[in-house]
Amino acid sequence: MASIHNRIKEIFQQHFQAAPQVFCSPGRINLIGEHTDYNMGFVLPAAIDKAVYIAIRERKDRILNLYAADLDDSFSASLDQLQNSGKQWPDFILGVADQLQKAGNALQGFDAVLMGDVPLGAGLSSSAAVECAAVFALNSLFGLELEKITMVQTAQKAENEFVGLKCGIMDPFASMFGKKDHVIRLDCRSLEYEYMPFSMEGIAIVLFDTGVKHSLASSEYNTRRDECDEGVRIIRQAYPQVRSLRDADMRMVSECLAGAEGKIEQRCRYVVEEIERLQAGCHDLLANNLAAFGQKMFETHQGLSELYEVSCPEADALVNWVKNNQAVLGARMMGGGFGGCTINIVKEEMLPALVQQVAEKFEKQFQRTLTHYVVHIGGGTCAL
Ligand code: GLA
Repeated sequence: MASIHNRIKEIFQQHFQAAPQVFCSPGRINLIGEHTDYNMGFVLPAAIDKAVYIAIRERKDRILNLYAADLDDSFSASLDQLQNSGKQWPDFILGVADQLQKAGNALQGFDAVLMGDVPLGAGLSSSAAVECAAVFALNSLFGLELEKITMVQTAQKAENEFVGLKCGIMDPFASMFGKKDHVIRLDCRSLEYEYMPFSMEGIAIVLFDTGVKHSLASSEYNTRRDECDEGVRIIRQAYPQVRSLRDADMRMVSECLAGAEGKIEQRCRYVVEEIERLQAGCHDLLANNLAAFGQKMFETHQGLSELYEVSCPEADALVNWVKNNQAVLGARMMGGGFGGCTINIVKEEMLPALVQQVAEKFEKQFQRTLTHYVVHIGGGTCAL
């Protein structure tokens, strides 16, 4: 099978009778640090070897012609009247164009084809990958000379303001800044980051897909954000120095939130614990102690499931089944939640048997075939 790079060039040629430039941007995994980005904590994501590709050529007018090859669907718009398309996939590109224009960048129209192998709606950030590919392509096409971090912020703003999802910075950051064989320890407040080597020797990363299409737009993600903000508001009455849950500790959570309404205390407890867990997990990685790191992934899952309540029965089952399995060092649900994939760090030689075992259990319990992806850590957004 021809590579996606070659195929997208051919498709562009057929569709627009011209030769394009091609850019690509990867999906992401996150080892630990979930729902911590918008609380100004830390995350530990990495880009994967599955990516979104965009083939693009500038036009002389103000028209955007977009074609999603995998969906065989087209959409056209004018740069002078950017609004939601009503069918989602074009919005990631329209949103980026809109943000770039709002920031004062001069754009022209363009023809573009999209294609890729990042599974959609599986929690691997296909949307951030499209946004990063688009902003990187437009930056290059129109000589905008934007810094990478500005491109990341543009992608996030497109998602927040145009698509309407209040997500944090982790996904576009991981897609844009990914580095082969490294995870990124990102401080979501200062945006300082550090590449940490992640040795895959004898290790495989496998994702089990719950098959439940998560819709982060569903009010739950935004509700969690509101609960965290409310927790901060209450803690600040006693500790004005606390600007986000990043600044809080367990003592403050217990002292200030014990009587708080609803589930605010347990939501905040999870976040504060998770920020601490990530710091300790980074020490494990530096000490090359994957077993200790993996245990923390299981703890994260428990927190996400019981305290933060963003898991689902399929993800809980997938994690529980591998918990005491010799082949698995660590596992947890990954991403926003309510579906998507679990991430598993597995001893490579035991991978085939594990996949078979888990697939059988899954089919028996949920009467569906289990999809899994073995992923490698790859580089970030680039021109091809
Ligand atoms: C989604 C969001 C991210 C992050 C994760 C949870 O992937 O896009 O910003 O909040 O959920 O860690």
